[in-house]
Amino acid sequence: MRHLISPLDFSVEELDKLLRLANDIEKYPDKYAHACDGKILATCFYEPSTRTRLSFESAMLHLGGQVLGFSDAANSSAAKGESVSDTMRVISEYADICAMRHSKEGAPLVASEKATIPVINAGDGGHQHPTQTLTDLLTIYSLKGRLDHLTIGLCGDLKFGRTVHSLIHALICYPGIRFELISPEELKVPSNLHDEVLVRNHIPFREVVSLEDALPNLDILYMTRVQRERFFNEEDYIRMKDFYILNKAKMELAPKDMLVLHPLPRVNEISVEVDDDPRAVYFKQARYGVYVRMALILTLLEVEV
Ligand code: CP
Repeated sequence: MRHLISPLDFSVEELDKLLRLANDIEKYPDKYAHACDGKILATCFYEPSTRTRLSFESAMLHLGGQVLGFSDAANSSAAKGESVSDTMRVISEYADICAMRHSKEGAPLVASEKATIPVINAGDGGHQHPTQTLTDLLTIYSLKGRLDHLTIGLCGDLKFGRTVHSLIHALICYPGIRFELISPEELKVPSNLHDEVLVRNHIPFREVVSLEDALPNLDILYMTRVQRERFFNEEDYIRMKDFYILNKAKMELAPKDMLVLHPLPRVNEISVEVDDDPRAVYFKQARYGVYVRMALILTLLEVEV
């Protein structure tokens, strides 16, 4: 039995296979419409979500399976003090696979140690968000045609943004990747990611404050919101929240074939006037999230179609 807790739980070969399966699902959805008949997905979300939870549910429903779960810890027995481990032992009796989001880093890992069904980390605190990474990889692979030899600009809250942390871990497995890390000084990537992942693996990268300086060099611009829920005080959040706003004028500085991704939700960091630019693919990216989660469910449940 396999879980997905970190993007590194899959090898590059396994990732490539998963992405190819997701592409096939996109092309031939009818082929997969009953692949999970009789199977149940549990979504245990202790933290708010729109895309991750609903795209998991959409994925399982498109595979012919069914879904159950909770979207608010306050409506679960966590509110009475039940541990994640005990909850997971119980969910294992009700469902065939579980997607869990939690504010505490490592909670899905703890859950997976007690589970008798596959557990998927749907985001744990400021740590990792591996299924967002699968979504991002599928978006880049489908729209750029490759995952290697790309210059990726990661912009915004690189300190608390778990999507950025997971994406860096996954992309460094491909040759020719370089990063432009665009953030204010206070929101730079954590030192362990900087030292133990980027520097140790000799990944070319540059830390810059100016989005305008980085834009002309990029194949991909990955915008992120400032993670209000992870700040210790509101004043710091207010000071940081509008540090970057991508607008039409800034898009003029970018290459004509650059893609703009964003895990969403967006707050102010991309002006709505950018939405009509063909390079803005963040809503398409949300659609890719369904295909890749369908592929993931099939893979973890070992369903062959
Ligand atoms: N991208 C993402 O994780 O969105 P949600 O928080 O809405 O799930």
